[in-house]
Amino acid sequence: MIPIKSKRELEIMRENGALLNSILEGVKRLAKPGVVTQKLDQYAEERIFECGAVPAFKGYRGYSAVLCTSINDEVVHGIPSSRRKIRSGDILSLDLGLKRNGYFSDMAVTIPIGEVSDDVVEFLKITEYSLMEGIKQARVGNRLGDISHAVQEFVERQGFSVVRDFVGHGIGVELHEEPPLPNFGPPHQGPRLEAGMVLAIEPMVNVGSHQVKVLSDQWTVVTVDGTLSAHFEHSVAVTEDGPKILTEPLNKG
Ligand code: CO
Repeated sequence: MIPIKSKRELEIMRENGALLNSILEGVKRLAKPGVVTQKLDQYAEERIFECGAVPAFKGYRGYSAVLCTSINDEVVHGIPSSRRKIRSGDILSLDLGLKRNGYFSDMAVTIPIGEVSDDVVEFLKITEYSLMEGIKQARVGNRLGDISHAVQEFVERQGFSVVRDFVGHGIGVELHEEPPLPNFGPPHQGPRLEAGMVLAIEPMVNVGSHQVKVLSDQWTVVTVDGTLSAHFEHSVAVTEDGPKILTEPLNKG
């Protein structure tokens, strides 16, 4: 069963999403060449506690940090470290989650550090647009597969590939709720979308092959061929008025 949230629950999740967005903005501002990823993690943790929330990832299946920091060929779940400096030319994926007033929020972005090539900027844009293509399909009456298909179509048309081994998810009173949400697959399949469903849509896109593997730290996911990978995520509500991005700044509605 896919949980349906009431208007009141969606309001709380909207507040949480706006908070999460603003914290992630702060992390982005700190992410300059020479900074170690652990510093970003500390900042995120402080900001989360300041607003009366708790980190969603720390302790989740033994994950040790608040933030996931995945650099270059790292796809997701990179663990912040005092020994890992970000450098000009890197791309850095930042994935952050929090829980407040009983509800989770989850968001990710990938940003360029210092100077990167135009091709890399384009790759990041395409990954972000693929998320938007998915979000557009999050409407009442569509099926879950319409989201998955839209993301895959868009990404593959640009010559990139979508990761298969990790997927998006429902979100609410749990970080991961029903349904799992692949970023690939045929359209017009899967459960019908209803008002009040909330989905964390999170395309992970590789420049090369879609294949990934997990490093010996048991967390860091990297591309098998060593090519770059990007990740964008929003928590999105299905409503009678269309898709509503919960993890965006409040002034956007
Ligand atoms: Co997620």
